[in-house]
Amino acid sequence: MCGIVGYIGTQAATQILLSGLEKLEYRGYDSAGIATVLEGEVHCVRAKGKLHNLREKLERIENPAKIGIGHTRWATHGKPEEYNAHPHMDTAKRVAVVQNGIIENYRELREELKQLGHEFRSDTDTEVIPHLIAQFLKADNLTFLEAVRQTVNRLEGAFAIAVINADYPDEFVVARQQAPLAIGFGQGEFFCASDTPALVPHTRAVLTLENGELARLTPLGVEVYNFAGDRLKKHPRTLNWNPVMVEKQGFRHFMLKEIYEQPGVVRAFLEAYLDAADVINLGLPESLCKDVENIQIVACGTSWHASLVGKYLLEQVAGIPTSVQYSSEFRYAPPPLTANTLIIGVTQSGETADTLAALTMEKERRIGKSPAYQPRLLAITNRLDSSIASVAGQVIDTHAGIEIGVAATKTFIAQLLAFYLLALDLGARRQTLSEERLEEIVTGLRQLPAQIELILESQERYIQELTHQFTETQDFIFVGRGINFPIALEGALKLKEISYIHAEGYPAGELKHGPIALLDAKVPVVAIAMPGSVYEKAISNAQEAKARDSRLIGVVQMDDAHAEEIFDDLIPLPAVDELLSPILTAIPMQLLAYHIAARRGLDVDQPRNLAKSVTVE
Ligand code: F6R
Repeated sequence: MCGIVGYIGTQAATQILLSGLEKLEYRGYDSAGIATVLEGEVHCVRAKGKLHNLREKLERIENPAKIGIGHTRWATHGKPEEYNAHPHMDTAKRVAVVQNGIIENYRELREELKQLGHEFRSDTDTEVIPHLIAQFLKADNLTFLEAVRQTVNRLEGAFAIAVINADYPDEFVVARQQAPLAIGFGQGEFFCASDTPALVPHTRAVLTLENGELARLTPLGVEVYNFAGDRLKKHPRTLNWNPVMVEKQGFRHFMLKEIYEQPGVVRAFLEAYLDAADVINLGLPESLCKDVENIQIVACGTSWHASLVGKYLLEQVAGIPTSVQYSSEFRYAPPPLTANTLIIGVTQSGETADTLAALTMEKERRIGKSPAYQPRLLAITNRLDSSIASVAGQVIDTHAGIEIGVAATKTFIAQLLAFYLLALDLGARRQTLSEERLEEIVTGLRQLPAQIELILESQERYIQELTHQFTETQDFIFVGRGINFPIALEGALKLKEISYIHAEGYPAGELKHGPIALLDAKVPVVAIAMPGSVYEKAISNAQEAKARDSRLIGVVQMDDAHAEEIFDDLIPLPAVDELLSPILTAIPMQLLAYHIAARRGLDVDQPRNLAKSVTVE
C-alpha cells in the first residue's frame, strides 16, 4: 500500500530510485514520483498512472543528483491524479516528502498550517508533513533532523516517511510509525525502502526500523533515534535472499513463477519443521500450547481462506474449538473474552493494518487480566521481519519467501501447511489422533511436492486450453464441501481479483438455498469433488447445477470413472487423503484464474485497485 524508496551515495539517484520503485510497484500503482536535491534545489517529477509514465518523463531529463526519494501510490486520500502524487513539498519547495500510511489528524494540521500562511496544492493527508517540517525549520530554527522529529511527534496514524531538504544536500531523514521501513547499507551509499525487494539488488545488509524510530542517512552512515530524540545503537542484519528471487526468471508473470515455486515451498516448509523421524517441531513453547481451550484466528482475504482450512484442521484433528474472524470486523465487535485462548494472526505480508490492529487490540484487552486470560499470540507469516512478528512474539515462518504477484498463491499454500503442522502438533500434545493416523498424514504431506509437480506438468496446458471457452463469461460459481469449501472461496477470489470476472464461492450444499437461482448455460460451475466423507454429497450438488444447464468443471481424483459422466470438463488430480486435498485442489484454482486473466491480456501481477500489502484500515 504505497511504496517508498530513498537513496544517498555516489551514483546518480534517479535510476536507482526507479528500479527500487519497480520492485515496489506491487504495493500500489496509481501514480509515482521522485524528488532529488541538485544545486541547492529540490527537483520533483511525478506522473499519473503506472511507473512507466514516470520513467518516460524522466528519460527526457538529465539529472546527476546523488540523493533522492521516490514513491509509488495506492490512493487513499485524493484521486489518483498527478497533483496528488508524491513527493509533496512545502510552500517554498525546499522540503519534499514521500509517505506510506495515513495521517489521521491531517485536517486539523492542515487548518493550523493554512492559518500560518502555508499553501496546499493537493487533496492528500501527506502534504501536511512537508509544511509542518518547513514550519519547524523556519519558526523554531531547528536542524533538519530535529524538525522531522518534532513533526512526527505531531502526527497521528500509521506512517513511514522519507524526507529530503534542499538546504541539506548530504542527508535524508526517514521515520516509521506502524508502517514498514527498512534501511539498506551499501559501500558509501545507503538506501531505504518500504520492503526489502527494493534493497536486495544493492545490498543484503538491512536494518528494519521499529515503530517510533527515525534515522538520518548520509554518505558516511546511518544514525538511528527514537521519537524522543535518544540516539539508539542498531546494527543491520544480513538477508539470506538473492536478487534473482525478485526476478521473473523466464516466466511471463510473477504469479505463474510463484505457482511453479510451490513444490519447493512445500519441501522447504517440511524440511524446516519435520525431522527425518517425522517428529514435528514448530518451536512453539509449552506456555503457548498448554491447555488451550479455544483458538481465535484473525486474517483477511486469502489468509482468511487459509484460516478456514485451519479451523477445520484445528477442530477435526486437534479437537479445539476455533473461530475465524475477518480482522477488519473483529476489532469493532470483539467476542467476549475466553480463557486459555490461543490467538493467531495470519498474514503473508505481515503488515496488513487490519490484522495488526486486531491482534494488538486482543493483546491489550487481555493485559492485566487473570492468568488464564493472558494473551497467547501466534503469527503465521512468511515475513519474519514484519510488524506482525514483533506484535505476536511467536511466529510460524511459512518459508514461502517473497511473493511479488499481488494475487497470493505460494504464500497461501505455505499458510495451509502451517495449519497442518500446527493441528498435528497440538493434536499430538493432546493425544487426539492415533500414531497410525499421524503417520498416514505425515506420509501424505511428504508426497505433496511431487503431486503438485505432477498437476503442473499434466494440467497446466489443459487448463490453458479450457480457458478458450470462457472468453465471454461474466460470472463463475465455485463450490466445495467440508475442508474444500474454503478452496472454492479462494478459487472465486483469485478469479475476480485478476480477471475482473464476477465469481462467488459457496459450500456446495448451499447452492440450493438461493444461489442456484443464478445458474444457467452462461454461468459455469467449478465443483471440487475429491473422494472422502463429502464426495457423494458434492457430486449430487454438482448434478443439481448441471440440471440448470451450467457448464460443469470438476476438480476430481484421477481415477474417478463416475466423474466423466457428470462433468463437462475434468481436472484430474493425484489420489490424496481427503484431509490433505486442499493443497492439491488449490492449484487448478490458481491456474484457471491465471490463464483466464492472461488470455484476456490483463495485468496479472498488478490487478487494478489492489495492493500486495494493505497497510491502511
Ligand atoms: C488475495 C490477496 C489478498 C490478501 C489480503 C490479506 O490474493 O492477496 O486478499 O490475502 O489482503 O493480506 P495479508 O495476507 O498480507 O494479510
